[in-house]
Amino acid sequence: MPATPCKITIAIDGPAASGKSTIGGALAERLGYLYFDTGVMYRAVTLAALEQGVPIEDEAAVTRLAEALLIEVLRPTADDGRQYTVLADGVDITWAIRSDAVNRHVSPVSAYPGVREALTRQQRRIGGAGGVVMVGRDIGTVVLPSAEVKIYLDASPEERARRRHQENLQHGQPSDYAQVLADLQRRDRIDSTRASAPLRAAEDAVCIDSTRMTIGEVVARAEALVREALARVKRDGGDADG
Ligand code: DC
Repeated sequence: MPATPCKITIAIDGPAASGKSTIGGALAERLGYLYFDTGVMYRAVTLAALEQGVPIEDEAAVTRLAEALLIEVLRPTADDGRQYTVLADGVDITWAIRSDAVNRHVSPVSAYPGVREALTRQQRRIGGAGGVVMVGRDIGTVVLPSAEVKIYLDASPEERARRRHQENLQHGQPSDYAQVLADLQRRDRIDSTRASAPLRAAEDAVCIDSTRMTIGEVVARAEALVREALARVKRDGGDADG
């Protein structure tokens, strides 16, 4: 899809390992848009708490951390398979935020309303100008509710666990399918039942179940939605020219 002068906002939400980063990254590259994975911000706060010895259950202290931590997401600074580089107070944490310890503790951290407030503020600053594919759990519902394209990406828990398990093995990491499935289901449960901005599809989101689809098919479907939105914005004479 050629880059276009008309820049819209694309929100992609969905549960863990539903393919959001693969689809979001591919879409952003084709459009020449910024790709922003909001999950890295919750992971960065979790890592900072673990490293600084702040107890995860101390909501006030974790919230203070979220308010003070400078999180930057840059173009990749190393050729090691990363989609982007993440800095926390200037330190490269791109791979550290993918550790088992962060995986285990990030859902409770992301359930704290004060943490969400601090990070949502930053996400709106980044996404508010358009020309962005923003990926997360609450982008279409809370962060950017007026996004022109909203996609809710899903797949069965077994298929998501299978994909994550394969990914781990490809990266040479030890992986146990049953454990991966149990972890995904635990995170889904916390993310979708928390009081503050729970994981759910926005009413005007298009749901794509990728369980039996290839990556290419999902990207094609997402691109079709983007084309429709761009045509709609142009037709309505919207102010999305950028
Ligand atoms: O997408 P991910 O696995 O990197 O997300 C890590 C955690 O952050 C996950 O438990 C859900 C949470 N998260 C969130 O609550 N809201 C977002 N917009 C993005 C992620």
